[in-house]
Order: sequence, then C-alpha cells, then structure tokens
Amino acid sequence: MLIIGIAGGTGSGKTTVVNQIVQELPEGEVTVISQDSYYRDTSHLSYDERVKINFDHPKSIDFELLCEHLDQLRAGETIEQPVYSFVKHNRTSDKVITHPRKVVIVEGILILTHPEIRDLFDVKIYVHADSDERLIRRLKRDIAERGRDLEEVLTRYQTTLKPMHQQFIEPTKEYADIIIPYNRYNTVAIDIVRSIINERLV
Ligand code: C5P
Repeated sequence: MLIIGIAGGTGSGKTTVVNQIVQELPEGEVTVISQDSYYRDTSHLSYDERVKINFDHPKSIDFELLCEHLDQLRAGETIEQPVYSFVKHNRTSDKVITHPRKVVIVEGILILTHPEIRDLFDVKIYVHADSDERLIRRLKRDIAERGRDLEEVLTRYQTTLKPMHQQFIEPTKEYADIIIPYNRYNTVAIDIVRSIINERLV
C-alpha cells in the first residue's frame, strides 16, 4: 500500500490535485480520506459555541482517530470514516465504510503538522497557491457550497484562518517531498506525481 499525504492551505487546490491523481489511477485502486471528516465530535456544544471553534488549529482535528484508521487500513482492515457537516459544524451520525486500497490519499490543511501521521506517509505533497488566490477560492466555495456569507468568511479569514495558516500550515512545507505551485492548473506537476505513484506501485 502507498499512502500519500496532500497538504496545503485552504483554497490551495488540494481537492483538484487529488481528483486529477484519482482520475489517472485505475478504478478501485485508490481511496481518498479527507482530514475534514476528522473534525472532533462537538455534539456536547451548542451551535453558537461550535461556530466559535478555531477550525484551523491542529487541536480541532481528531488526529488520534485518523492515525488509528490509517494504521487499520495499512493492516488491511476496513474502517468506518466519520462524516462531517460544515453547515452544522459537527460530525453527523453517518459513517462511510472504507476499504483498504493500493493507494490511500490523505488530504487536509493540517495533516503534515502531526509527527505520527507524517511518518505514515510514503509521499508528502504540499500544494502552494498565493494567499489572494486562496482567499478568492475560499470565498467562492464557502458561499456556494458551505452556506456562509461574505462577512462570515472574511471575519474568519482575518481572525483565525490567516494566523493559523502562518503559524501551523505554511511551516509544514519543509516536510514535503514535492511542492506543487497551483495558482493555475498544473498538469506537468500531476504527470510527475502520477509517474512517482506508478513507479512505487510496481
Ligand atoms: O477544504 P479545506 O481544506 O479548505 O477545509 C478546511 C477549512 O474548513 C478550514 O480552513 C476551516 O476554517 C474550514 N471549516 C469551516 N467550518 C467548519 C469546519 C472547518 O469553515 N465547521
């Protein structure tokens, strides 16, 4: 099994990179695990309290569970991935049954901050985009897909997102084996990643 970690700030293009890699691999050989599914269960808090959580701090992620699940996949076991709701700011009661595959891609803003998880990755990738590009993408996505408004996204950007990015996310670039510039579509970089995967799989 090959475990690939794909980090990078919000709006950097991680999802696009993941989708492009997945498209290149034979069906049924790859599974994608998103760090977002592992936001901590906050059912004990009210909605108003949950909104105030700093979702860009490593503490907000249930890394213990993510680590356990990656170990299980590596051991050939099936896991039950939690499902997260960005609208409710909480884990739902759903689970996604996830089987081990030849390639496991783990993507998320903070995945390279955790030493144990970092060690589990065979290949570590950091997707870089300029902060203005990332803010534009984040704004568009959160308004279109996550039920947010302009004011909400900008306030979160200034109060937590930007400082957390500088403190925790950007520094993890140094752990990456490959840094992909993604201000624009970068097909050459995807070709390189695909070759690495194919080479390691044989
Ligand atoms: O998909 P992406 O990597 O951008 O997802 C991470 C982002 O999701 C974080 O920057 C965090 O601020 C945001 N988030 C949110 N509301 C939540 C949980 C996370 O806006 N309830």
